[in-house]
Amino acid sequence: MPTLVNKPLKVILGVTGGIAAYKIPMLIRLFKKADADVQVIMTPSAERFVTPETLSVLSEKQVLCDFFDPATGMWNNHVDLGLKADAIFIAPATATTIGKMVHGIADNLLMATYLSARCPVIIAPAMDLDMYAHDSVTENLRLLESRGVRIIPAEDGPLASGLSGPGRLPEPDTLFAEFMKIMNPELPLKGKHVMVSAGPTLEAIDPVRFIGNHSSGKMGYAIAEAFTKVGANVTLVSGPVSLQTPQNVNRIDVKTAEQMQEVCLEESQKADIIVMAAAVADYKVENQAELKIKKDENLTLNLVRNPDILQELGKVKKPSQTLIGFALETHDGQDYAKDKVVRKNLDFIVLNSLANEGAGFGHDTNKVCLFDKTGSEKSYPLMSKKMVADIIVKQAICYHLSGNFADI
Ligand code: CTP
Repeated sequence: MPTLVNKPLKVILGVTGGIAAYKIPMLIRLFKKADADVQVIMTPSAERFVTPETLSVLSEKQVLCDFFDPATGMWNNHVDLGLKADAIFIAPATATTIGKMVHGIADNLLMATYLSARCPVIIAPAMDLDMYAHDSVTENLRLLESRGVRIIPAEDGPLASGLSGPGRLPEPDTLFAEFMKIMNPELPLKGKHVMVSAGPTLEAIDPVRFIGNHSSGKMGYAIAEAFTKVGANVTLVSGPVSLQTPQNVNRIDVKTAEQMQEVCLEESQKADIIVMAAAVADYKVENQAELKIKKDENLTLNLVRNPDILQELGKVKKPSQTLIGFALETHDGQDYAKDKVVRKNLDFIVLNSLANEGAGFGHDTNKVCLFDKTGSEKSYPLMSKKMVADIIVKQAICYHLSGNFADI
């Protein structure tokens, strides 16, 4: 049985007035078995084919049939329902409902919720064969498909009218499997390991003071999260930041560059893709004071080089691994970035220049340029760090699979 990506998946199950509604109780049981959160919304005519009570018991929730709750008079907020759903699944979808979807007719709670939704919408049409074959229904389905609605086609078989032909609602297990296939398409990095480093490293001066930098970790965390969405097993090696661990990410906390190096060298061995987004301190204090340094006139600290983790990873890089670095520059960014790709044996580097407004440390936006080892480059406008993360992940996948940038 397919698995849900994010549990519990919030599904609005729309039931409309067709005889095939008798199959929906079994469909709800399948969703509940997979831990989905099912909110049933019925159209008024659906209640003639299956009772709200049955669907309510099975979905473990009150079934919504109207804009107002008849018992309390409370308004059922369709906007809220639509916005919170991960998917709307309408089964069976009658010719009338399909027509209303095409024309935006919100004369019942289900249609109003559909028009308010931003999530994927999947429908399973079911009707008599001549209705299903009618030009208006065929054209309406084509229009809905062109707008992004996914359609699980009706099956060929005996129909309630006594006729036999296309128009039959697939059995509940087929409906469930098709729904899951649409919601959970083949994940390109399924079974692959990815290691991402993020945040700053802090180098102690004495027990209370340290040398650090302004890295918030937002970019690296967004990248780690984006990799989980494409099925990767993600290890996030994180310097001290105040961010929540993204779902399904294995986070290992470190403080200093040396600790980060130890963890990265260990974790990278099983990684297929490595992204060093951390702002690693290049220097540490030569002799850390064991006791707090008391103030005097001037204080001179002798700083010594920290290991360059990315360079070390480049030295031991396996041919099957894709190694990606970051460069944050204030000037001559392109030249430095291109030099680092070669010097550190990277597949590509992500340059963000502090010269760009809204890019770099602390911001929620970033403007990046990617340079690979063959001299190809990709430049992107200012966008949210989440969007930048999606681009980096897409390019990492393409590079990992083909050795080239994707055309995005
Ligand atoms: N990096 C690293 N270890 C360090 C310093 C940097 O792994 N000690 C990694 C960063 O995570 C980043 C990349 O190297 O992916 C670029 O960091 P940057 O400081 O710009 O590189 P440097 O080699 O230190 O270049 P510069 O000459 O600008 O100091």
